[in-house]
Amino acid sequence: MAKTPTGKNNSGRGQRDLKVKVKTARGRKLSSTRWLERQLNDPYVKRAQTEGYRGRAAYKILELDDKFRFLVPGARVVDLGCAPGGWCQVAVKRVNALGEKSGKRVGTVLGIDLQEVEPVAGADTHVLDFMEDDADQKVKDWLGGKADVVMSDMAAASSGHKQTDHLRIIALCETAAHFAFDVLEEGGTFVAKVLAGGAEGDLQKLLKQKFQKVAHVKPPASRSDSSEKFVVATGFRG
Ligand SMILES: C[S@@+](CC[C@H](N)C(=O)[O-])C[C@H]1O[C@@H](n2cnc3c(N)ncnc32)[C@H](O)[C@@H]1O
Repeated sequence: MAKTPTGKNNSGRGQRDLKVKVKTARGRKLSSTRWLERQLNDPYVKRAQTEGYRGRAAYKILELDDKFRFLVPGARVVDLGCAPGGWCQVAVKRVNALGEKSGKRVGTVLGIDLQEVEPVAGADTHVLDFMEDDADQKVKDWLGGKADVVMSDMAAASSGHKQTDHLRIIALCETAAHFAFDVLEEGGTFVAKVLAGGAEGDLQKLLKQKFQKVAHVKPPASRSDSSEKFVVATGFRG
């Protein structure tokens, strides 16, 4: 697995490592000050700025792919919940969607999100609520065939209630999984964000029937104070 930008595991990162302190300001909530401080001191945020990624989320899929190697040249990828486009940027490079790696197969990247995505060279992106009726059919039409990877970083806006957020993300993940069962090529990979919280057992059972291997991973780029983790299911049985 890739090292963190500091070369360390991020689990111990906290106040003692802070370099930039943000003063509270009139009109700014304490939570916004804390968010700003965290952004300014986050090595992944800095690295994303230098390396041209649209957000620190890009490093989560980079680290997952470094471990499981599913974004190979020629792969056809569907990216659910792709805004602002970090995962698409990574996928475009790794599957050779722009044909920049000569002699290697050329892949495709299709992304969808509730929000408008600034175009990503090499990716085909669409605005769509994946939970609306017929959304899966629309994505299948855009895809026009099978996929080798279905990945979902979809997360609903936080309700502030942990269990509600957990159930929402599991619903998004299950919908993404059923879509994956329909479109994945045999041997394909499904990656999705989940939150630790107890209701993911059913999903795991289902994935274990459909895939040869199912792993739960928290990549170093995923903040240690977040209950987010990723399920990576490889070897779709078809
Ligand atoms: C954490 S962000 C994704 C970041 C992205 N992977 C990247 O690297 O830029 C989660 C995204 O899920 C999207 N989302 C949430 N619910 C959705 C839905 N029902 N349909 C489509 N997208 C959804 C949100 O709009 C948001 O942009």
